[in-house]
Amino acid sequence: MRGLVQTIAVICLILTCVSPAVAQRDVTIRLAHVDGAEWQKSKKGAAAEIFKNIVENETNITVQLFPAKALGDEDDLVQQAQEGTAQMVIVSAALSKLCKPAYVLDIPYTFSSAPIAWDVLDGPFGDALAETCLERTGLRTLAFGETGFRNFTNSKRPVKTPEDLKGLKIRVQPIPLYIEMVKALGAEPTPIAWSELPNALTTGVVDGQENPVGTIYNNNLHKLQDYMILDGHNYAVDFILINDEFYQYLSESDRAVVSKAARVAGIMSRAIQQFNTAESLSLVIEEGMEVHVPSAEELAQFRDLARPAVIAWLQEELGEDAIWIEKLEQALAAEQANTD
Ligand code: MLT
Repeated sequence: MRGLVQTIAVICLILTCVSPAVAQRDVTIRLAHVDGAEWQKSKKGAAAEIFKNIVENETNITVQLFPAKALGDEDDLVQQAQEGTAQMVIVSAALSKLCKPAYVLDIPYTFSSAPIAWDVLDGPFGDALAETCLERTGLRTLAFGETGFRNFTNSKRPVKTPEDLKGLKIRVQPIPLYIEMVKALGAEPTPIAWSELPNALTTGVVDGQENPVGTIYNNNLHKLQDYMILDGHNYAVDFILINDEFYQYLSESDRAVVSKAARVAGIMSRAIQQFNTAESLSLVIEEGMEVHVPSAEELAQFRDLARPAVIAWLQEELGEDAIWIEKLEQALAAEQANTD
């Protein structure tokens, strides 16, 4: 009898030890992105580090980081997240290829400031977009980080109005919406992969390009380009994504920590990107780049050419999903009403 009691006691001890919390010691999140690992210069890198710190401090989950394209470019990463070989990824443009409604965020001259974009993304519009993309891709958007406002640079002449852009060969990301936008502004869009850009600028294959200021400085593009206009034509978003099957497999308390950590990471990404933008702007000017801040009238000329053309193109492209253009406009109107 004594032996039986002892055996039961041992079994109870083992069962207690193999509680869900202990079993989860084996859980690993592989988190990949294409930015550098140096968090001070990299919004995705900063977001990933913050996420890892919080999750590893508050749970038994291990977070392995794969920065700097270690697992491939953004399209590869989204695919790996869908397959579950990477549990989490931070990507910007790649998501809209699989979830077309996300495309509407790229409509040019939509957000007049970053805080407006944050409010729209963190409000009902962002929630609805995340829900739709989850249904279509199996990827849950845990939070929205920031790649930032994109601006035109070139090596030929100062650009103050669309007239000045006319005829310039501008490198764009290989994304049709960007081609339409640059065409509408009167320039010649040339889709080129990011890795080929420095060479294309050096050899004169293109005269210019468009990217956020931090990206321009951190990749030395300002050394290849003399002029920049801060037209902020697109507010590029970083989507912090998790494979939803994996997310559902986590315990409730781990899910709560993972969600919270991603929200903090998103905020951190925005903060780092704001800091990078301000610092990089003063550095590109210090290092000789001529930067033009457009007046409201000049900006209106860009907006009036690019927006209608891109919206018309997107309406065709999105078909039934064109409703998302309207949803975004409604969200912006609500945001405007709140701030009035
Ligand atoms: C690009 O222009 O291809 C991207 O903005 C580069 C990046 O991912 O930082």
